[in-house]
Amino acid sequence: MSVIRIKRLVQAVILVAVAVYTTLLLYQTVSASGYVQQSQRSPTVGSPAAREPRLRTATTTPAATATATATAPATAPPAALDHLFLSVKTTRSYHKWRLPVLLQTWFQLARNQTWFFTDSVDVEFQEKTNGHMVNTNCSSSHNRKALCCKMSVEFDMFLESGKKWFCHVDDDNYVNVPRLLKLLGQFNPQEDWYLGKPSIRSPLEIILRDNPKRKVSFWFATGGAGFCLSRALALKMMPVASVGKFISIGEKIRLPDDVTMGFIIEHLLRKPLTVIDQFHSHLEPMKFLHQDTFHDQITFSYSRYSKDEMNVVKIDGFDKRIDPTRFLSLHCFLFPNSNFCSR
Ligand SMILES: *[C@@H]1O[C@H](CO)[C@@H](O)[C@H](O)[C@H]1NC(C)=O
Ligand SMILES: *[C@@H]1O[C@H](CO)[C@@H](O)[C@H](O)[C@H]1NC(C)=O
Repeated sequence: MSVIRIKRLVQAVILVAVAVYTTLLLYQTVSASGYVQQSQRSPTVGSPAAREPRLRTATTTPAATATATATAPATAPPAALDHLFLSVKTTRSYHKWRLPVLLQTWFQLARNQTWFFTDSVDVEFQEKTNGHMVNTNCSSSHNRKALCCKMSVEFDMFLESGKKWFCHVDDDNYVNVPRLLKLLGQFNPQEDWYLGKPSIRSPLEIILRDNPKRKVSFWFATGGAGFCLSRALALKMMPVASVGKFISIGEKIRLPDDVTMGFIIEHLLRKPLTVIDQFHSHLEPMKFLHQDTFHDQITFSYSRYSKDEMNVVKIDGFDKRIDPTRFLSLHCFLFPNSNFCSR
């Protein structure tokens, strides 16, 4: 080997070493500044209002999209029905009015996975649901404590079930079961996921009694639209929320069950809500949902505006007297082969 060749070789080696070193330095600087920014935002170091709550929007925020696509591409197969624990919150006086239409429609698509959480023993509906009515022994009043009590029992039963996903809905929700499974298939239940839809435009701000100087702000998914938690997240919540601790937290912050859920996940555990626009509560006007998007919606709802005006999905089908909630007509639109749909 000539001297010139050796010299060139040494030069090349030095060049590579310098490049590697520079890259490492750059990398270190970036992570360090990231760390500083984070600790500045942390409540103990920064000013009280400094922390901006994070909100993942499944469709628009680049970071969230990256997370979602990294775990599963949009073409991911749907989650298996049997990985789902689906709880429906109801109460004694609504069994007769609200449950029959659910039992006739979407419940048929998830009979083994759906459980009704109520506040009494009801032999008739115990039979109609194949023993899927759960008497929570919670009060039947619609107050905060009773609501948190039911959510607490739902959460504990999910943990016991060993299922991968916990989804909660209300007894005025229609669940598009295959679409829900498609959604869950896009996320990894071994990662922390809180999927749902807020009904307010900005995070909720509250002041805690034990620290009145500091505002706490967080997002929460509206319970009446439905929301889902991955098993990994539920396991992390266990120390603060299982075996009735959920009720104590609700009492402490004096807010309803769905808000308490958001407080635990976003504030105590610092895990962001991922917004899923296809969940719908009765707080939204149902008539603005277009029929050509029904297959893509995950939940629907209804409510009564006044004596003769209902907030319901706009769809032709059964007569309003037979189908006041429009859930029968909706079900036949989505699943025309169902037994009661004339074709
Ligand atoms: C529901 O569960 C029962 C009892 O475990 C089982 O026999 C039945 O096949 C299940 N049905 C469906 C549709 O999975
Ligand atoms: C409600 O009370 C009954 C009777 O004491 C009991 O058998 C049942 O397990 C209780 N339900 C729950 C969810 O704790």
